[in-house]
Amino acid sequence: MIPQGMVNAAYLVAAVLFILSLGGLSHQRSARRGNWCGIAGMALALAATLLSGAVTGPGQFALIALLMAAGGALGCAVALRVPMTAMPQLVAILHSFVGLAAVLVGFATFLAGGGAQYSGVERTIHAVEIYLGVGIGAVTFTGSVAAFGKLQGIISSAPLTLPARHWLNAALGLACVWLGVEFATAAAPDALPPLLIMTALALLFGAHMVVAIGGADMPVVISMLNSYSGWAAAATGFVLANDLLIVTGALVGSSGAILSYIMCRAMNRRFLSVIAGGFGGGTGAAPAAVTAAGGDPAAEATAIDAAAVAALLGQAQSVLVVPGYGMAVARAQHPISAMTGRLRERGATVTFGIHPVAGRMPGHMNVLLAEAQVPYDIVREMEEVNAAMDDTDVALVVGANDIVNPSALDTPDSPIAGMPVIEVWRARRVIVLKRSLASGYAGVENPLFFRDNTRMFFGHAKTRLEEVLASLD
Ligand code: TAP
Repeated sequence: MIPQGMVNAAYLVAAVLFILSLGGLSHQRSARRGNWCGIAGMALALAATLLSGAVTGPGQFALIALLMAAGGALGCAVALRVPMTAMPQLVAILHSFVGLAAVLVGFATFLAGGGAQYSGVERTIHAVEIYLGVGIGAVTFTGSVAAFGKLQGIISSAPLTLPARHWLNAALGLACVWLGVEFATAAAPDALPPLLIMTALALLFGAHMVVAIGGADMPVVISMLNSYSGWAAAATGFVLANDLLIVTGALVGSSGAILSYIMCRAMNRRFLSVIAGGFGGGTGAAPAAVTAAGGDPAAEATAIDAAAVAALLGQAQSVLVVPGYGMAVARAQHPISAMTGRLRERGATVTFGIHPVAGRMPGHMNVLLAEAQVPYDIVREMEEVNAAMDDTDVALVVGANDIVNPSALDTPDSPIAGMPVIEVWRARRVIVLKRSLASGYAGVENPLFFRDNTRMFFGHAKTRLEEVLASLD
């Protein structure tokens, strides 16, 4: 056991390490360091808590060691196996654990008579802490399980829009407030029923809120649930009087909220309308086939083969690669990296344009390109590549669709109108590599495929790029 002063010092250092971790994760170059800071902070926090005197006796230590070994082994096994494209649902289910933990800690504290040492206002504050911890935890738990179900295809991705659902939500919210007053003012045995009823209502509310949101908005929901799980952890920190848990929960809660805001802006969605649900029915499901631009039967897409693509790339001075979800599915980042090296050896300038919501989760493309050893300094953000677009010889779009759709800018009634996009059509030549003319995640037709300067390079991204590589020799 170590003195309380040392525990506090260790918590302070751990909190600083968590902040450094978040800072590091904001850029690819420093992301690895950020991860290590997070790991070090968590190891320090665990060690300080275990040695703080809260855990006593060899039996308790043995139980904790056993559970940590079992949980760690399970976590490693799942993390090593899960494909990059299934990462959002993994994150969702992990959030559900945080929510469940907050519910269990809240109930355990209440049932163990926690707070008996308090009286007056302090007692009320403690009761509110328990109530909020359990409530936010319950919403996070079922909300995350529902999000997991939608992303995994276990439940339909279409929004479930019950009649008067907003009234139902409002009634649930009001009932929870009333039960909270009952809970905080009742004596211990009488306080249990309001807590139990509120937990049941919060579980219902979490599930209902998420099933009402369409598949297209699910990644924003995951980020929002990330934020909730942080607030649930912070509330648990108050219940347990653990400063580090409060700080860490607040960091997760606020960073999740900021990320949700950034994603909403990049998808041109308003946060409140996402939470209100009812959008995105049918999106994220099988893409609709597009036959012609804007339904114009006269428009035709022009196909190109691997040898011609290699010739175009070989002649270009500046090449922009815009990766999207299809690159991730096809695992085409390795041939792209090899092709980039080849073109750069020949003296061409190659840059990558990354849209903030390319793929299915924030940073999706950056992670894959880093894995394939694409140099960080040629991976640019959307604004930067758009500014240089007029001087680009060839824009190669690999498995991307919505993020390069001109109708976001020029069709006011398009579902994605107003969404910022990578304006590849301003390059001298555009090559779009995908399997068909089908639409992308938003289920919107893409007139880019029918532009005069666009060539459609049909096929599986990895196979076709390997053919291009072979032709580049
Ligand atoms: P999408 O618009 O989904 O388009 C991906 C395209 O990849 C599809 O049209 C598909 O066309 C093609 N594709 C699939 N498998 C392929 C393969 N094996 N080889 C070649 N091509 C393949 O992707 P995007 O352009 O990256 O846009 C992302 C979308 O997800 C946006 O609508 C965005 O709002 C949404 N979203 C993203 C996020 C985050 S945080 N990234 C969050 C929420 C929503 P074919 O079927 O014809 O091959």
